[in-house]
This record gives sequence, structure tokens and C-alpha cells, in this order.
Amino acid sequence: MEVVIVPDSAAGGELIAEAMAGLLRQKPDALLGVATGSTPLPVYEALAAKVRAGEADTSRARVCQLDEYVGLPAGHPESYRSVVLREVVEPLGLSESAFLGPDGTAEDVAAACLAYDRALAEAGGVDLQLLGIGTDGHIGFNEPCSSLASRTRIKTLTEQTRVDNARFFDGDIGQVPHHVITQGIGTILEARHLVLLATGEAKADAVALAVEGPLSALVPASALQLHPHATVVVDEAAASSLKLADYFRATYAAKPSWQGI
Ligand code: PGA
Repeated sequence: MEVVIVPDSAAGGELIAEAMAGLLRQKPDALLGVATGSTPLPVYEALAAKVRAGEADTSRARVCQLDEYVGLPAGHPESYRSVVLREVVEPLGLSESAFLGPDGTAEDVAAACLAYDRALAEAGGVDLQLLGIGTDGHIGFNEPCSSLASRTRIKTLTEQTRVDNARFFDGDIGQVPHHVITQGIGTILEARHLVLLATGEAKADAVALAVEGPLSALVPASALQLHPHATVVVDEAAASSLKLADYFRATYAAKPSWQGI
């Protein structure tokens, strides 16, 4: 996988937004897999700025969700559907019909998971999937010991993830759902390009384990090692536990600038 060390989260956002803009120049109706959480926000801000500046055209772009809470009422501001509508779909001027997501309100959750996996395939598959990483090494909501071949399914969140996400629920862990629908690791690996963004010291150990550690279900993000086109974009703080940081810097610096990520 390619590891790109950037000075800060804004630079990471700019780099990934440029990759998305370049993809949309080649494939105007590309399906962009988007992630929620704090980390990807600079990507969406940079892409929206490019749209305003006429440097990116998202008019035919499609977006899809990575995961969703189970059991939040429809329209809850912290459901990931609401978050993606607010942070991605509206700022990029996309229509809701260009947006795919799992139904976290379904009575039959297992059927909703199957339906979402099928919908992604019928949409032609994800062209670029943006990922965050949990402090426990999760991608999507594939918590440690998720099957590396897993498909979209219901998962139970770890206590650590519920603690990490309580900040979106007025700091009240009691409001954070226990269950989620997440694209499986096998589903995620079907995207044509995986781009993981991690910023801040709290992610440094998870990043090092994912990039330099053994492939292991204990660190779901290590599954990126199996993907033929995976890019890990980290700021200096998130890169601080990487043994090969100097090698990654030198390799990226030597890359032709036209090549992108
Ligand atoms: P964060 O979440 O970007 O809010 O840190 C990342 C994740 O849990 O995947």
C-alpha cells in the first residue's frame, strides 16, 4: 500500500479531494464511498471548494455510505444518513437519488444488510472508498476480530467505539446505539481504490499496526494490505509510530507529481 505523510489534516483533505476530482474527470458518475466521523470533514470541505472554483464537477457523482447506526429514528441528526446528507450531499449539490445507504430503521436488519450489499453491486461497485480508522483499528464498523471476508451485516460496537462516538451524542454514551450496519471487510475490499485518512496522535498505534503489522482480524484495517490499490494518508502525528516513515516520505517525494495517489 502507499503511505503518504502530509503536514496536517487540511493537506490530507486537499490531496484526497484532488484524487476524487480527478476520478470524476475520468468517470463523471463515479460512485464515491464516504465515511463519517471527524477525520474526513476536510476532504468534503476541499471537494466542495473545488466545485465552487470550477475545478471539480460533482453534478453526476454518486455517493454511498459505509455504515449506519441501527435503531435511531429516521431523520435523527446523528444517523449516518443525516450526517452524509448534511456534510456531503448538500454541500456538493447532489440529489438524494444519487445517494445510497443501508436502512438502519428496517425491521428486518439482516434483509437490509443483504439489500445494501446487492445495491452496491448493482450500482457497479464503489470506485473510491474513503475510510477512517478507529483507535481499535476498525474500518467502517468492523470491530476487532471481524472476518476479513465479511459482507454487510449487523455488528455490535465495542465499548471503546461507543466512548469515542459519545461526543456526537452530547457526551452521553447511553445515547450511542449498541448496534450498527456496516459494509463488511470483504465488501470494502471490492472498491476499486481504498483511501484511508488518519489524523492525530490517538490514531498512531492503530495506523502502525494496520500498515506495518501482520495481517490480522484483530486489526481490521490491516486488510488494506490485501488490496491492489490502497492509499493511507496520515498527518505527522498519526504517522508517529511508523517505523518506515522516512521510507514512505522518500518514496512519495520521488513519485512523479502527475501520478496522484
Ligand atoms: P473519527 O472516526 O474520524 O471520528 O476519528 C474514525 C472511525 O471511527 O472510523
